[in-house]
Amino acid sequence: MSVLHTGIGELVTNDPAIGDGSVLGLLHDAALVTDGDRVAWVGPAARAPAADHRVDHEGDAVVPGFVDSHAHLVFAGERSAEFAARASGRPYTAGGIRTTVAATRAASDEALAAGVASLARELLAAGVTTFETKSGYGLTVDDERRALEIAGRFTPETTYLGAHVVPAEYADHRADYVDLVCGPMLDACAPHARWVDVFCETGAFDVDEARAVLEAGRDRGLGMRVHAGQLGQGEGVRLAVDLGAAAVDHCTYLSDDDVEGLAAGPTVATLLPGVEFSTRTAWADGRRLLDAGAMVALATDCNPGSSYTSNIAFCLALAVRHQGLTPAEALHAATAGGAAALRRPDVGSLVPGARADLVRLAAPSYVHLAYRPGVPLVREVWRGGVPSEEER
Ligand code: NIG
Ligand code: FE
Repeated sequence: MSVLHTGIGELVTNDPAIGDGSVLGLLHDAALVTDGDRVAWVGPAARAPAADHRVDHEGDAVVPGFVDSHAHLVFAGERSAEFAARASGRPYTAGGIRTTVAATRAASDEALAAGVASLARELLAAGVTTFETKSGYGLTVDDERRALEIAGRFTPETTYLGAHVVPAEYADHRADYVDLVCGPMLDACAPHARWVDVFCETGAFDVDEARAVLEAGRDRGLGMRVHAGQLGQGEGVRLAVDLGAAAVDHCTYLSDDDVEGLAAGPTVATLLPGVEFSTRTAWADGRRLLDAGAMVALATDCNPGSSYTSNIAFCLALAVRHQGLTPAEALHAATAGGAAALRRPDVGSLVPGARADLVRLAAPSYVHLAYRPGVPLVREVWRGGVPSEEER
């Protein structure tokens, strides 16, 4: 079945070869035809071909579905008391992760799946049509495996994060935990994961441990992604670059060498401004990364500790206000950037052949995403050519 989406006041294609020649490939008075789950045609409304159905966007802006390349959705419980304590001056440490680990281990599969379903609905309502999600709150062979099995019911972008922190029961023999993560836990998780990730940071895993985890995952056919540069400068960003990881996420603290490495290679630098908002830490310098020539993504990092938001438009507004991105760069990072971070050439743009994932905004321009922060501007979402209310 084909659908003609017409009356689009402003269409963001993310193809610089289309339209105004900018990175967003903007077209005005545009139309788009979808055929099944794919985009079949994009161009001026006046030249649009006929289709089986017609949707009139009445001058609204249409943007590619957001691609959230970093989230931790499989968990139980919540940590509002920790958030409130931070708001009165307590610093964020990775220690809070263990609180969520205890709650997650105690939860049933049904409760965990219901939690993911609820957050996945929030993401879709916020215009996210592709999302990644991680394990990392189980930290036993069975709890990590079941987290990934549940995650896989909702997204193909599943990430094994057995190396989130060393669980309390291994505190005195952490090398054994790294061996578990690289051995039996990986064996149980790899069939349910597309990616392997590690939190390379003081208080989590050092660079040698992180390399061991990433290489073990890579040798099992998993793509690599890394958490680094969240709490301070370290060797994690360089490790990600040297191993050719798809992405390194947080990037709040970067050395000049880190920035050079990111600019020179294919590893995407993912900004997570929801974390900096929620943990009251310094803002990552997105401008520095873009000026150096690095590819930048923007993601929610939705998790109960450091960033409990599923609203990527909120993150986009923060990136514009605090990380030095223009509204165009922020939208590009939350769509094409996220797609690059997940190595998904089929999403993040609206060009013929791409997946028909599109968001109609209650606004004449994408700029409103940052200009009207906190306002729910997502009017309608189509995923794979289908209106999201028909999917539910
Ligand atoms: O990406 N940095 C490590 N992991 C999460 C935090 C998880 C938590 O605090 O529960 C993050 O920010
Ligand atoms: Fe994270």
